[in-house]
Amino acid sequence: MTETLDIQITKTTHSRLEETDFDNLPFGRTFSDHMLLADYADGEWKNFRIVPYGEIKMSPAISSLHYGQAFFEGLKAYKHADGKVVIFRPDKNAIRFNKSAERLCMPELPTDIFVQSIAALVDIDRDWIPTKANHSLYIRPCMFATDPYLGVQPSATYTYVVLTGPVGPYFSKTLRVKIETHYTRAAEGGMGYAKAAGNYASSMLPGKKAVEEGFDQLIWTDGQTHEYIEEMGAANAMFMLDGKLITASTRDTILDGVTRDTVIQLAKEWGIPVEERRVSVAEIIEGAQKGTLTDAFGAGTAATIAPVGSISYNGEEYFLCDPKERVFSQKVFKTLDAIKYGTEADTHGWNYVV
Ligand code: PLP
Ligand code: COI
Repeated sequence: MTETLDIQITKTTHSRLEETDFDNLPFGRTFSDHMLLADYADGEWKNFRIVPYGEIKMSPAISSLHYGQAFFEGLKAYKHADGKVVIFRPDKNAIRFNKSAERLCMPELPTDIFVQSIAALVDIDRDWIPTKANHSLYIRPCMFATDPYLGVQPSATYTYVVLTGPVGPYFSKTLRVKIETHYTRAAEGGMGYAKAAGNYASSMLPGKKAVEEGFDQLIWTDGQTHEYIEEMGAANAMFMLDGKLITASTRDTILDGVTRDTVIQLAKEWGIPVEERRVSVAEIIEGAQKGTLTDAFGAGTAATIAPVGSISYNGEEYFLCDPKERVFSQKVFKTLDAIKYGTEADTHGWNYVV
């Protein structure tokens, strides 16, 4: 049963909206006027409140800082030409939020509370939603452990926080990616499928090295053999090989992306064969060499549909065709945008109206 969420609202006395440069929105640096907070204690979520965005007070002993009991989500809100505000598939993020919570031994948040809390926050800051092409309001829910205790055990208290901020594209250019064969993002039995803060922490050193070598993103491979493609640092990896849409099947090492799922659904509706399976590095490299790899892209909320321009493997760089000539990813990109921005009917019920 859906309960109506009781949220205490304290509005800001000084909006930063007028001071914000909407023509210059690097991802993740601008925050809207308000944020939502809630506390978990004594076995329940309480004290849902929307307050002006700002610093929060916390003990330096909280276990999320020391042991990484923390995870997050990422979703987006869009404003249609008629002023209607929608959030894209928040129900999917709500389910994944709880998968992450379970893996990290943290409390679940009922899915309808997750969606309602986010919708309430987006509603208050609806003037912050950019209307420019490729722009949206990024929504960042997060949960972290707050017990000030240095013993290694699950915290008894937690904070749920949701931030929002106007964003442009996460990737501003065609990606030059490298297939990683030394470091591992996630191991079997680990927490790769959770949106755990620690997964991103462990990816930073390999990511930094890749950037120093001139790459934009890594393609992670399986930790056992490094022969199979898993995903990218901030997106799922998808390929059009021999006329089939191919992507790694989800498993405990891979984040089950909402964008990935959306792309797969659209491809199937368009009659394109889809294969969710183990994807070998060898077949992708062979496809790049032979020209049968006609499309490759990252699929993610922040990334949207981010074309891959070249793939490097064992010191060799393989160039793919011009992204403008790619039939599939161009069509997916345009269709997704049309649904999100309301210029095409949302026949799947993906848009949650705020
Ligand atoms: N994989 C990783 C590691 C990510 O960080 C993301 C981004 O959220 C994705 C995949 C794509 O997931 P989604 O489409 O749900 O944003
Ligand atoms: C998202 O796409 O929402 C993400 O979480 C990617 C992020 C790591 C920038």
